[in-house]
Amino acid sequence: MADVKIRNLVKIYPYIDKKPKKGEKVKKTNLQITDKGVVAVQKFNLDIKHGEFVVLVGPSGCGKSTTLRMIAGLEDISEGDLYIDGKLMNAVEPKDRDIAMVFQSYALYPHMTVFQNMAYPLRILPQHITYKFEIRYLNNKLEKIAHIEEELKEKYSNKPEKLQKKLEKYELVKKEAEARITECNGLIDKGEESYFKKMSKDMIDFKVREIAEMLNISEYLDRKPKNLSGGQRQRVAIGRAIVRNPKVLLMDEPLSNLDAKLRNQMRAEIIKIRQRIQTTFIYVTHDQIEAMTLGDRIVVMKDGYIQQVGTPQEVFDHPRNLFVSGFIGIPQMNYFDAKLLKKEDGYYVDINGYVVKPSKEKQERLKKSKVEEQDILVGVRPDHMSITDKGITGRVNVTELMGTTSHIHATVNNKDIIAIVPNDGVHVDYINKDVTFGFNGNVIHMFSKENERNLEFLSEVLASEFRFDDDLAKKQAEHEKK
Ligand SMILES: Nc1ncnc2c1ncn2[C@@H]1O[C@H](COP(=O)(O)OP(=O)(O)OP(=O)(O)O)[C@@H](O)[C@H]1O
Ligand SMILES: [Mg+2]
Repeated sequence: MADVKIRNLVKIYPYIDKKPKKGEKVKKTNLQITDKGVVAVQKFNLDIKHGEFVVLVGPSGCGKSTTLRMIAGLEDISEGDLYIDGKLMNAVEPKDRDIAMVFQSYALYPHMTVFQNMAYPLRILPQHITYKFEIRYLNNKLEKIAHIEEELKEKYSNKPEKLQKKLEKYELVKKEAEARITECNGLIDKGEESYFKKMSKDMIDFKVREIAEMLNISEYLDRKPKNLSGGQRQRVAIGRAIVRNPKVLLMDEPLSNLDAKLRNQMRAEIIKIRQRIQTTFIYVTHDQIEAMTLGDRIVVMKDGYIQQVGTPQEVFDHPRNLFVSGFIGIPQMNYFDAKLLKKEDGYYVDINGYVVKPSKEKQERLKKSKVEEQDILVGVRPDHMSITDKGITGRVNVTELMGTTSHIHATVNNKDIIAIVPNDGVHVDYINKDVTFGFNGNVIHMFSKENERNLEFLSEVLASEFRFDDDLAKKQAEHEKK
């Protein structure tokens, strides 16, 4: 495990697209273009804790892979600093960063068996061997010897002299292993964790089998990748990455080549792996379900900028801007034009005559941010809308029966909206009827029409502009020590 500190990380790719001819229409990229080139990642700042699972999520082209590849060392860092366990990594070779990466394309060696694919990184480079692992390895060795001894005793039951000679051969190996276990335990008691050395062939064999067992691929160890299914190949790729006990495991859309069912299964598998290995995870996906279910924290990106960093629940409950509110959550949030009113007893939201009072917490945050009366966009998630007699009325175009719920698609003031309502046995056909939808003040999200920010958090520093103050952090640490 390791902590990862990312400070003002920037990636600028040289501008390679041809200049458009006069009058020629070009599809404009949303990325900033400067004299130096296209800015794919903008001053990215993030502190990742030991063992944390962080997910970078965002639409195609927003800079997720570029950020990950800079952390891995596969891409030069244009500006900024990257620290792993406090060490500056900018100029460190990828192989010396103690990082492993799993790609979308599994990138397995086709001519090697599964076993060889997984053993390969262990064969070529020295590894951090933990004392705990060595103890497991030695205990396994002792078990094997015990087994052999049993067999010999049976085989030479009437030739005691020969048996004695055969057993002697193992006595020394056993003694050595037992002594080493005691030594390892002593080192663990002293707080030592691991040493750095090339693994022996036997140890590699044990390590690969141990990981294969965990990933449920033991039975395929002798097969070549071409004789495996996509999900099995993906497991091998993950296996090859984790045999080395990397301090940081980077994964770039590792599940996107799999079909929906397998993807769900592998997602659960990754959660299990995460519980069993001690590694810091940085995971890239454009799939918000993966982000929500896997991440301790998620980082939502767009056009090279961080939009929001937070726990999945925080990002879902309190999206800091319009983009995040629409990107996280299925089906998408509904939006209504509205007016924010400030009255004596607090704020109100007027949606075409339907007046809702924001909850107490929302009131307090609006007040703290000194929000003025203004035209706003109100966002409400489909699950938070219900059919009532007081609310906003729209014409229903489609209803989708989803079993326990119905998705009702309607048009309200020329805007398409979706409401998810429970099916409680009585099926009502709403098609081509006017239906009134209501919601309460706990579930509304209020966005500025000017800058698309969530008005409750207007006084907060924007995620895209957030910078770490290392001096401040140092002072704080010193203060805490005292
Ligand atoms: N070698 C390059 N030269 C110029 N621009 C590049 C280069 N590689 C990537 N880009 C641009 O940088 C931006 C970020 O790319 P990146 O691969 O990081 O996106 P992503 O978020 O991983 O997207 P996806 O979800 O499609 O994988 C893209 O707009 C891409 O066009
Ligand atoms: Mg990518």
